[in-house]
Amino acid sequence: MARFTGRTALVTGAGSGIGRAVAVAFAAEGAQVVVAGRRPEPLAETVRLIEEQGGKALAVSADVSRASDAETLVRAAADLPHPRLRSGGGTPIGSLDVAVNNAGVFRGGQPLVDLPEEDWHTQLATNVTGVFLALQAQIRRMRTQPAGGAIVNISSTFGPHTASPGAAAYSATKAAVTALSRGAALDHIRDGVRINVVSPGATETPMSLRPGETESDRAERARATLPLGRIVATQEVAAAVLYLASDDAASVVGTDLVVDGGATL
Ligand SMILES: NC(=O)c1ccc[n+]([C@@H]2O[C@H](COP(=O)([O-])OP(=O)(O)OC[C@H]3O[C@@H](n4cnc5c(N)ncnc54)[C@H](OP(=O)(O)O)[C@@H]3O)[C@@H](O)[C@H]2O)c1
Repeated sequence: MARFTGRTALVTGAGSGIGRAVAVAFAAEGAQVVVAGRRPEPLAETVRLIEEQGGKALAVSADVSRASDAETLVRAAADLPHPRLRSGGGTPIGSLDVAVNNAGVFRGGQPLVDLPEEDWHTQLATNVTGVFLALQAQIRRMRTQPAGGAIVNISSTFGPHTASPGAAAYSATKAAVTALSRGAALDHIRDGVRINVVSPGATETPMSLRPGETESDRAERARATLPLGRIVATQEVAAAVLYLASDDAASVVGTDLVVDGGATL
């Protein structure tokens, strides 16, 4: 199956965890992928993994909380020529077909009253302002393209779907991501830009480890408390993202797809 052949996908936070799995999955289905994050080394490793499986990727260092970086990422993706797409003059052309706004940070673990104000601002800047700036830059580009584009924002079950101790501020940012995405989806579907959300539950990355917890402690906790009996694999989140970004989901607009093994039922 190659649902993204001839398309360019942009994935933020692609140097690790869910973002890396999403980038690798898009490449495996034919997309050329722009992988973004602040640190170059993890991005280089994602590019290596993609090239190893015969795919094409470009790493671009960027901080999603800066408007100029959001624009840089869109340009980098749209300027990446498709090997097979050519303009009338025969010049290879590019486009931003898919964007996945996945970069995010969690600061918490303590009751809200003890959260340093700086941690509030960091989460707001990355998780909310980062998605806002990305949406603006991506929509401006996608609405000029004949085939439009698809955007998938990564939210969380924390916030839009449930509450959790020590995560009030993070949850507020993720509730904002879902609300922002739903509103933007309505505003821009007639521009040819289809926007959706994936809300993962606890997923196999360090972000879901509680303070002092090992991976096997976490697996034990999941066995004891989660309906599915385990946490979510990064590839399972990626599969949901690819579905929403694909033509299979052409009529799916502004949805928030929960991938949590039944944790919030
Ligand atoms: N893991 C879970 O259980 C879980 C559950 C629900 C939702 N989520 C959400 O899923 C997304 C991915 O999380 P993850 O678990 O894969 O965590 P992760 O491995 O820490 O990935 C987050 C990525 O975002 C990048 N990033 C952070 N701040 C950035 C910034 N200002 N600009 C650009 N890139 C930035 C990081 O790279 P740099 O540090 O190099 O920039 C990192 O690669 C997040 O939005 C998270 O909130 C995770």
